[in-house]
Amino acid sequence: MSQKINCVILCFILAMSGSFADAREQKEYDADVNYDENKIPHYDLPPLLVTAEGQSVTTAQQWANERRPQIVALFSNFIYGRVPEPASPIQTEVEVVEVDPNFMDGKATRKEISIKFSNDQGTAEMLVLVFVPNNTEKPVPAFMKHSFNNTRSNDFKADPSRPGRIKNGWPLGEFFDRGYAFVAVYQQDLVGHNDVSFSRGIHRLFFKDGQSFPKAREWGVLGAVAWGGMRALDYLETDDDVDASRVALMGHSKMGKATLWTAAQDPRFAMAISAQSGCAGAALWRRKSGETLQKMVTRFPYWLCRNAWKFIGQEDDLPIDQHMMIALMAPRPVYIASGIEDTWADPRGEYASAYHASKVYELLGKKGMTSAKLPPLGEAIIRSDIGYHVREGGHSVDLYDWQRFMDFGDYHLKQQP
Ligand code: GCU
Repeated sequence: MSQKINCVILCFILAMSGSFADAREQKEYDADVNYDENKIPHYDLPPLLVTAEGQSVTTAQQWANERRPQIVALFSNFIYGRVPEPASPIQTEVEVVEVDPNFMDGKATRKEISIKFSNDQGTAEMLVLVFVPNNTEKPVPAFMKHSFNNTRSNDFKADPSRPGRIKNGWPLGEFFDRGYAFVAVYQQDLVGHNDVSFSRGIHRLFFKDGQSFPKAREWGVLGAVAWGGMRALDYLETDDDVDASRVALMGHSKMGKATLWTAAQDPRFAMAISAQSGCAGAALWRRKSGETLQKMVTRFPYWLCRNAWKFIGQEDDLPIDQHMMIALMAPRPVYIASGIEDTWADPRGEYASAYHASKVYELLGKKGMTSAKLPPLGEAIIRSDIGYHVREGGHSVDLYDWQRFMDFGDYHLKQQP
């Protein structure tokens, strides 16, 4: 499809919604959002354990060799977009830009790592931050965060007024105390937050023969963020301070969606943690509760691929639902965190995905959810291969959340049960 037609479709979608020039318009536009549990439509989820050819999946081998690749392909082609072959081979150049062995009064070493990608179409660069606890036996397990904060900003400096915190509030000191490295990857290094032009960034390196726009089944914004996360893990595999086989990837909200898609495609990630990832993250599309496909695509047309637009209002026709995304983590541990007031992200839909993914975990001899009922507020499920909590409050990552993620890491990445 040509760029011109794309723009026409895009303008139509934006016109449909109005431009949200003010909050009132946006509120009116969202007046039809459903938050009422009694109005959730009846739905049937696509079967997890039946192949595209209609065969039952009854063994771990069948899951790994047949069903799992089919599900990854469905998400690639219909939701997040496939990463195409680059236009020409990509050269990757890694440079350690700066090392500060005295970060947070000597608690950790802070490294700035530049990763540059180039081919004859252009260049793109990521700045990855790696914080490694000092006085700890190396290599250490790590948490990697898909971050909204720019890794070049002061957000990642220690905050002297709050011991153990960095300026954006993250409790890095506690990660170091528990023996983890912490890695930050910035979401806008390779693609703009709401890119609809694709004239700069990583996509350019993949456009062939005069192409200037992703095709209907090709990667949009979340796909590019996910690709960057994988490249950061490539780097960690070369860093002797970090055990790249014990990296937990985490992200909040849009970055929670990116986290799930990154770890789904790349089984090298040992764990995935999705905080309030909601629509296109952990929440089921078919519940249509809080943000829906239509709402997402209206505001953020290219977070997903263009094929996803075809299912607006037709979620029942989707060949996947997000319980299949959670199942793609299996047998690796996955943690899903919700906030009960974060209704835009549909906490109940997030839990339902975890619950319905459990049959894959069970098939692989792992522990999933045993109850379809949302657990009580603030009672985290940690000693399980699918971890979960729903806490009071709304859309944020609180100390309570961070600490449960670390508890889940302690349980799975340190001592094996
Ligand atoms: C918007 C968007 C959500 C997203 C959130 C965020 O609310 O609709 O899908 O998760 O932004 O990233 O904070």
